Amino acid sequence: MDNLEEILDVLELRNVIDRDVTLLSGGELQRFAIATVCVQQADVYMFDEPSSFLDVKQRLNAANMIRSLLRPDDYVICVEHDLSVLDYLSDFVCILYGTPAVFGVVTMPYSVREGINIFLDGNIPTENMRIRDESLQFRLTDAGDEYLIEQSNAYSYPAMEKTMGNFHLSIEAGEFTNSEIVVLMGENGTGKTTFCRLLAGTEKPDGAKQMPKMSVVMKPQTLTVKFQGTVRQLFFKKIKGQFLNQQFQTDVYRPLKMDDFVDSELSNLSGGELQRVAIVLALGMVADIYLIDEPSAYLDSEQRLMVSRVIKRFIMHNKKTAFVVEHDFIMATYLADRVIVFDGKPSVDSRANKPESLLTGCNRFLKNLDVTFRRDPNSYRPRINKLNSQMDQEQKLAGNYLKRASQRRTHSHHRRNNLTVSTRQAQMGRTKASSIQAA
Ligand SMILES: Nc1ncnc2c1ncn2[C@@H]1O[C@H](COP(=O)(O)OP(=O)(O)O)[C@@H](O)[C@H]1O
Ligand SMILES: [Mg+2]
Repeated sequence: MDNLEEILDVLELRNVIDRDVTLLSGGELQRFAIATVCVQQADVYMFDEPSSFLDVKQRLNAANMIRSLLRPDDYVICVEHDLSVLDYLSDFVCILYGTPAVFGVVTMPYSVREGINIFLDGNIPTENMRIRDESLQFRLTDAGDEYLIEQSNAYSYPAMEKTMGNFHLSIEAGEFTNSEIVVLMGENGTGKTTFCRLLAGTEKPDGAKQMPKMSVVMKPQTLTVKFQGTVRQLFFKKIKGQFLNQQFQTDVYRPLKMDDFVDSELSNLSGGELQRVAIVLALGMVADIYLIDEPSAYLDSEQRLMVSRVIKRFIMHNKKTAFVVEHDFIMATYLADRVIVFDGKPSVDSRANKPESLLTGCNRFLKNLDVTFRRDPNSYRPRINKLNSQMDQEQKLAGNYLKRASQRRTHSHHRRNNLTVSTRQAQMGRTKASSIQAA
């Protein structure tokens, strides 16, 4: 087809065009694979998990590229686990449910909004089938309201610089507390993993700057298997106390369905199983601060929802702090109490802003990407607006890149939600009781 030049631009492949395919990073290889499908002339195009390894901007560009293939009488079929991307990409969705490794059922196609809401709700009305015990909602107030928020410990880190080869990262000084999840948002190559390593103390900042001593564990982005033996043996060796603890079993171990493969050799695990082992291993260690680098990689939508709940519950119940790097926007906004936005020039010169509220942080992040999100009126999940749609233009004019859940409600709801939202935002040290009184 005649779209090669456009594809190279949109999928940012010009820098690697002369490089051997075996040398490409995960994200580069993904964009190359999408490109090799997009340049072909066909009636039906299929993409299996196109968003894996990509950051939010690249996911949107890939989705736009894939949609541009659609001509009358052509079809695109796509498997996708990032619900925001799926939402943006599709006209219709089929849900597949069943028992992994045993059987699966494909539903009739639903309109995309209906299909995703049904999936989140966990009940397929047309087939009278419940696929999950609980339903999921994304109101900004939800997440914290379940928990007594008692923030007592304050931590801080100084302004820092970090240079590695031709890459330079500059970090604004910041502070955080316990019972808080800070999500790191930014394009690939803006130094999110580097920032985690600085906090963990495995990398040193430039000059004589010292990171304050903190007790930190990290779930690394890349998962490597060095241990020989089964998952159970690994847990006994590394996190015996928590592994045998009832609360940990209930909050973390069981929801992640670890028993399905606890007696498998570590070296035989799939990507998604290994990811869950890495998450359990990190949360099973005793520390004040948990750094969780890209937990959604290799997981399907259902597992992503479970992992998000597990992390949130664990951090809030145990009054810890987590820093989470996450590109799946639904997960990121569900998890985040506050966010750190990474901006600047990826791979060259970037900046980590100080932690800020979910709303201002998302506004900053989405403004960089020139994307707006509205809220679904039923599930409150964020939905990407089509570029230059009326909603997109209105929200951009108002500087409102991520709509708050309460904004589209009727007057009485509006009042109530606004109050809970604002007490939540002024939160620091407030308890559930106080926000209920305020409401
Ligand atoms: N040891 C190193 N030497 C030189 N450059 C590095 C090194 N480690 C990472 N980089 C570069 O630093 C930049 C930021 O990397 P990283 O922190 O992994 O970004 P992110 O996690 O946001 O994708 C990238 O351009 C990467 O290639
Ligand atoms: Mg990284």
